[in-house]
Amino acid sequence: MTVRDTWNPAQYERFRTEREQPFHDLVALITRRPAGRVVDLGCGTGVLTAMLHHQLGAAATLGVDSSSSMLDRARPLEAPGLSFVPGDIATWGPDSPFDLVFSNAALQWVADHRSLFARLTAMLAPGGELAVQVPANFDHVSHTLAAEIAREEPFAAAMHGYARTFSVLPPEEYASLLHGLGFVAQSVRLQVYGHVLESPDAVVEWVRGTLLTDYESRLPGPLYQAFVARYRERLHAALGDQRPYFYPFKRILLWGRLPV
Ligand SMILES: C[S@@+](CC[C@H](N)C(=O)[O-])C[C@H]1O[C@@H](n2cnc3c(N)ncnc32)[C@H](O)[C@@H]1O
Repeated sequence: MTVRDTWNPAQYERFRTEREQPFHDLVALITRRPAGRVVDLGCGTGVLTAMLHHQLGAAATLGVDSSSSMLDRARPLEAPGLSFVPGDIATWGPDSPFDLVFSNAALQWVADHRSLFARLTAMLAPGGELAVQVPANFDHVSHTLAAEIAREEPFAAAMHGYARTFSVLPPEEYASLLHGLGFVAQSVRLQVYGHVLESPDAVVEWVRGTLLTDYESRLPGPLYQAFVARYRERLHAALGDQRPYFYPFKRILLWGRLPV
């Protein structure tokens, strides 16, 4: 099956304010300033990578992303000490270690977090820090509905039975994982971000910028439009016409530091 790059920076940034708060909360957990050598995995448009670079006074920050449309937006932000490269987090590895491995809202796209976190830890220098934020909203109707529709026809046949599964672990498992990987200090928390949106329709626009890009990349254009139409109809049936609509969004913020 062909998987296209369907990340759309403009669609993603429609909810920029809402998406930025978890980033700021994650940055607040980082203790080393200036931060030294930093990597931002799944850097997207690079806007937050540049902010991270400046806020931490980092010596060098590298943004890594697998989407060429996102990287096209990020590259103009390059500056001394700030650069962006293409790479798949599942396989990408650095030439030399980092003092901070950072990732905001990206690792949920990567499988098997136990082995992934072992690889991320191996990227760190002694005393290095890991800071990760992942959504944990997979039991909300905005997410369960997408998987439900993916299993219905004609979408199931077109995607050969594919439905997105999520690799995000419960918070306590990340805490145990960090301990097992040798982190001597850590913070892991689940936080609910409440977003007051105009109506349930805004939720459709929200997931079109993230979750649904996965189905968009696997379906021909007209079929993807039909997928979104069915999603919209069912979401309305589930949520009613609430105006404004309060969208509670769970996220896990985790941080750990290795011994020196
Ligand atoms: C929700 S966006 C977050 C972007 C940015 N970190 C932010 O907070 O604005 C997720 C990003 O992860 C990238 N991504 C998803 N899977 C990836 C992978 N396996 N390797 C590298 N990047 C990936 C996508 O291309 C996208 O830019």
